[in-house]
Amino acid sequence: MTETTPTGANAPVGVFDSGVGGLSVLRPIRALLPHEDLLYFADSAHAPYGGKSEAEVAARAQAIAAFLLEQGVKAMVVACNTATAVAIDAIRKRYPSLPVVGVEPGLKPGAAATRCGKVGVLATEGTLASQRFQALRDQIAAATGAQFLAMPCPGLADQIEKGELRSAATAALVARFVTPLIRDGADTLVLGCTHYPFILPLIEESALAAADGKDITVIDTGTAVARQLQRLLEQRALLNAQTAPSALAAFTTGNSASLSRACERLLQLSPPVMKVDAQENCQPEAKFV
Ligand code: DGL
Repeated sequence: MTETTPTGANAPVGVFDSGVGGLSVLRPIRALLPHEDLLYFADSAHAPYGGKSEAEVAARAQAIAAFLLEQGVKAMVVACNTATAVAIDAIRKRYPSLPVVGVEPGLKPGAAATRCGKVGVLATEGTLASQRFQALRDQIAAATGAQFLAMPCPGLADQIEKGELRSAATAALVARFVTPLIRDGADTLVLGCTHYPFILPLIEESALAAADGKDITVIDTGTAVARQLQRLLEQRALLNAQTAPSALAAFTTGNSASLSRACERLLQLSPPVMKVDAQENCQPEAKFV
């Protein structure tokens, strides 16, 4: 497919993730850029991405990018570490004039924050296995001397998709992933999956319980991603100058009522939600609800 016609400053920004995790990135984007209209896409019928093959995740990311372009977005945020790791280069190549912002585990801020030199990284299996992550890890480790302890967290994004932000089952999973990192000496934890900021209290509790009074720093990159989007829009004169309240609408390949509930619970927002065909071509199936 070739590039679509460039859109102007009044067009919306598209934000997507495997599910509700990208809402943790949408939140700082709304706070920093209150005049931007936003379209959020949750690929919940295909979540989680973390255990899928690179080819599957890359194909989903391309289909969603094409769908958002058809909705006329002027910029795109890949609000998913796993999709960024395997698909952002291909998306940029396919749409060379589209500003595209990705999300990567905050290894650089993690290295800057650690006092003992050991940083735990919580992320999906897919992110940690990707070449992109490993190259970033090696580069930051060489530049700073920091040591990164990677912890894949299978099942954790699922708990957040289910809305289990404080359940005993989620707490037990969090403890299973966080405790060994702290016991191995990490004093800083990087949230390398956009779902995890929604269970920050559980992650902090678990870390503190294992830390024996030591201070633990937790790094989330949502605000940095919002700033990068702001920079790109500014550079290309694409900031929206509207004074009217900005609009937010959402699409899901999963259940629209579930995404509505998630927006309400996680962001205290009630955007219109539209169900989209779960197949490759992402056709809208119905009107906004
Ligand atoms: N929120 C995603 C990420 O940042 C994906 C989680 C998943 O679908 O496994 O990696």
